[in-house]
Amino acid sequence: MLDGFVVKSLPQTGAPSEEIQERLTKICLDEPYAHFARAFRGPEDVQRLAQWAFDRFFADNGFFSLYAPYMREIEQEVIAMGVSLLHPEHDSTGNFTSGGTESNFSAIHAAKEWARERRPGVKKPNVVAPRTIHPSFHKGARYLDVEVVTTDFDTNGRGIAANIANAIDDSTIMIAASAPSWAYANIDPIPEIAEVAHDAGLWMHVDACIGGYISPFLEKLGRNLTPWDFRVPGVMSISADLHKFAYCPKPASSIYWRHVELQKHHYVEVNDPFLGPYKLAGFSGSRSAGPIFAAWAVMNHLGEDGYLRLTRRLMDIQARITRELGAIGGLRVWDVDVMPLHFSSDRTPTEAIYQGLQEKGWIMLGRLNPSAITLPIDPSLTDEDLERLLSDLREVVDRLGHAAAPKAGDIRYG
Ligand SMILES: Cc1ncc(COP(=O)(O)O)c(C=O)c1O
Repeated sequence: MLDGFVVKSLPQTGAPSEEIQERLTKICLDEPYAHFARAFRGPEDVQRLAQWAFDRFFADNGFFSLYAPYMREIEQEVIAMGVSLLHPEHDSTGNFTSGGTESNFSAIHAAKEWARERRPGVKKPNVVAPRTIHPSFHKGARYLDVEVVTTDFDTNGRGIAANIANAIDDSTIMIAASAPSWAYANIDPIPEIAEVAHDAGLWMHVDACIGGYISPFLEKLGRNLTPWDFRVPGVMSISADLHKFAYCPKPASSIYWRHVELQKHHYVEVNDPFLGPYKLAGFSGSRSAGPIFAAWAVMNHLGEDGYLRLTRRLMDIQARITRELGAIGGLRVWDVDVMPLHFSSDRTPTEAIYQGLQEKGWIMLGRLNPSAITLPIDPSLTDEDLERLLSDLREVVDRLGHAAAPKAGDIRYG
């Protein structure tokens, strides 16, 4: 992180590309130490194809995705394939976005527009959600001047429908919940929460940014998950990140609408006095079309059997980590419905282990309260990468033992 300002003028004379490449190669982070910071990637063939499609279309402007037929078709096919996983209605649809943050932002924005028609008396709208809702949701709400009222959750980090019902007031326009939350990786009781929303006549959003493209396959492989998608009556929008478990290159996410008529609350149309009508697919204006084409390429390359195969691989990795990491003194991998994995120690301060791993070169993600180290595993994690992580962890934990003092931990999520 930079502590201060960097003052630097543009070089007087440009440098040759080889020199630039050399400099950038030097600062490029090493594998496997940067593996988790680069989450989420598919296996090599998937990455290679994604990169090819990204490069081929990187100069095309996604600005035209509602109009240019070749691009429109591809973006809509991505959305159609995505929504098909969510037990859609016959007219469910969605939009391609730049990430979970924009998808959540889009949901709050659409709900606000929807409520503007239905509840014109609401001056300062609020959204009620379990406290485990992702910070990007708060961020989006802040931009839109919507208050987020958060409610207590159970010991496993799952929201409680009765708490949400109690928190609703005359200014509530929306209820949101996670499937799952990043913080606990557990799914909120979506059917009960959606019922509260339905009874109160509110928009119900499910943040499935992390789970949207893996839960359907976990379920097909027999994992019993709380229903969380359009199967659940009352769920009106779902955010799902393509750049997580769909293994598409960043920036790529999707926001889905239960009915096409809800999508009209998403679009912001401007009639410019000089340029004419201005209506784009999402919040961004000009954007690279690379991610749209890359997402299409990855989804068509993997297909249902590919996603099932990669989900199976992830389940194997999860089982191995739970077993082998759990055998290292005091470490415990948390029980989760979906992903990511979190682990903590009952013996050595988790912050000290986190810092020990960082000192060995690992760039790790964590969570603060309670402290845990997060493993956003993906199918590109090889057995050798995993072995390196486990042996580094054994070494760090052995060295620190019981005696490690809790360091003023800089354990952090992002
Ligand atoms: C549940 C959830 N929602 C939203 C987001 C934000 O996604 P992004 O970082 O793609 O904006 C994340 C990111 O991990 C997430 O886990």
